[in-house]
Amino acid sequence: MKLLFFSLCFLILFSSCRNRKESNNSSTDSLVESNYNDHSYSNLDSINTTHLDLELDVDFNNQTIYGIARHTMNNKGTGSAIFDIKGLQIKKVTLGPKGNERETDFMIGKMDADSILGQPLIVSISKKTNQVNIYYQTTKASEALDWLDTAMTSSKTKPFLYTQGQAILTRTWIPVQDSPSNRFTYAAQVKVPNDLLALMSAKNPSKKNTTGIYNFTMEKAIPSYLIALAVGDIAYHSYGGNTGVYAEKELIDACAEEFDALPKMMDAASKLYGKYQWGQYDVLVLPYSFPFGGMENPRLTFANPTLLTGDKSLVSVIAHELAHSWSGNLVTNNSWDDFWLNEGFTVYFEERIMEEIYGKEVADILAEIEFFEMQQEMKEISSGDHPEDTKLHLKLKNRNPDDGMTQIAYVKGAFFLKTLEAKVGRAQLDEFLNSYFESFKFKTINSKQFESILQERLLDPNKIKFNYKEWIYEEGLPKNCVKIVSKRLQNMTELAQNFSAGQPVFEPKIHYEYQKIKGKRKKKKVKVVDQIKRDDFIVQEWQVFIRNLDDNITIDQLNKADNAMHFSSWNNSEILTEWLVLNIQKGNTTKLRPEIKKFISKVGRRKYLMPIYRALSINPADKKWAKEVFEGCKSNYHAVSKNSIAEVLK
Ligand code: BES
Ligand code: ZN
Repeated sequence: MKLLFFSLCFLILFSSCRNRKESNNSSTDSLVESNYNDHSYSNLDSINTTHLDLELDVDFNNQTIYGIARHTMNNKGTGSAIFDIKGLQIKKVTLGPKGNERETDFMIGKMDADSILGQPLIVSISKKTNQVNIYYQTTKASEALDWLDTAMTSSKTKPFLYTQGQAILTRTWIPVQDSPSNRFTYAAQVKVPNDLLALMSAKNPSKKNTTGIYNFTMEKAIPSYLIALAVGDIAYHSYGGNTGVYAEKELIDACAEEFDALPKMMDAASKLYGKYQWGQYDVLVLPYSFPFGGMENPRLTFANPTLLTGDKSLVSVIAHELAHSWSGNLVTNNSWDDFWLNEGFTVYFEERIMEEIYGKEVADILAEIEFFEMQQEMKEISSGDHPEDTKLHLKLKNRNPDDGMTQIAYVKGAFFLKTLEAKVGRAQLDEFLNSYFESFKFKTINSKQFESILQERLLDPNKIKFNYKEWIYEEGLPKNCVKIVSKRLQNMTELAQNFSAGQPVFEPKIHYEYQKIKGKRKKKKVKVVDQIKRDDFIVQEWQVFIRNLDDNITIDQLNKADNAMHFSSWNNSEILTEWLVLNIQKGNTTKLRPEIKKFISKVGRRKYLMPIYRALSINPADKKWAKEVFEGCKSNYHAVSKNSIAEVLK
């Protein structure tokens, strides 16, 4: 029996290595099924998790989670169950219900050459086994986990822990079949120090209890990348209804104020694309090291504290993560090759929510800005090693799924839907999207399936032809892509050009006008001083101003603009990043080093850190300085950001 199991393992491992190197058309596919999902070792076709029970003991002293993952499985009659693990220490594996378990053999395969996938954990089971229990602990190499010392939190007295699962990091803190194609429900019992609160992407408590033991249930089936945990000294503010916000208590009032459009967003979103399916929707604002703007963990979006600008200027990120409750969480990309089906739909939906609440002008400003960014990135990708990455549907086998996390999926994806909207009309598209969410809810989808329902439900009945194949499977941007032109951004571009040409656009301008004076019959000539103020424009308009400054702008002019508008001390990381990058590129680094250092040692969001480190790595003196700063503060970053920056500074 043992011999049979180990020879089977050998076969599986051998073929899995082969499969990862070669094309997957051999007969070994049925054994490893790596074509089923390119970024998981699991044998999902033969056996898959339908429910997961977690028992987790969160130990801040050792920065370790001691866990048991009890998988209830649908076994189609196989003798082995394969899970994904990376950076986990497996202690033992048992079969059978809790309390009536028997230990079984397991084997851990080799790490893949690029250390992307991790290792297969192959468990010997019987053809009737439907309960596999894995006893394990996390290690320093558990990349999903960000353990924050007290100094890194707002309280400065309590530590914090959060996880980041997407795309394939859940396997670094839980042994799972880590593929978005499989959905399962989960429950968890989590033990934490009794002065801290635990929260998950599940039914959550609203306050701490005295035992430090918390129970969670997620009753809707979700893909593994959406399992999430956060532990800290966290407070809650409810907006009433089904929305609210969690944060460390020092930040809770600011969060409650910043995100107060949340109930309206929920209302707008449900009106657009159907009932919200997850019950509660809360946002958890994490410490600064969080590598993303937001992460759509179901029932509990994780958000970056840089969204707390005081002027609600970055709330579109919340609209985005809320939109994922439909696109992504309800209807999920079947594999990371179709990441655009998650993100492109979400960006489109995000802008519909923004339009509903803030009007078309604002939604257009957002769309035009991101379109510009996408075009820049498209140029870079087209001239790089993988020009095929400008397609919506990607082939990411043997590559890191994060390679697909570009503006192509997000913005080309959204413009695909905008172009479709222009062609078929908004009412028709909305009807189609409603039926799409309704029929695919709690399921997964790939580009092929999407194509056929698009054809059947939208194009055929309306007798419309649309070049969707070109959009999905060809490089670049199809010619029929809609153009969005915002008058307000045109004005900003002009302002930037005038400033670059030396016009004193920020100086006060004096003119006289006749004004009616109270109690007087005759109008009186009065002196009026006009001067541009920061508040005359929204953050995104200023962003466009900075982007459109002339290539030949001098350092002197940059300093002048900064003196007038104080870009370098603005508490808005979008502006700050834009401004710092431009100044670094123009050779104004030395003067701004204190601001740069302050920002990049505090903020861990990859979107901001990457362009700054990239700009710094051009000039050797800047690069040397950047390396020193990085060495000093890299322990403040989540592994996701740390790894990306290390790559840039190599
Ligand atoms: N799901 C993504 C974040 C993500 C993608 C994490 C892929 C890991 C792998 C999230 O919804 C997202 O897109 N966040 C954006 C904000 C958004 C407004 C574009 C971000 O963090 O910048
Ligand atoms: Zn997203």
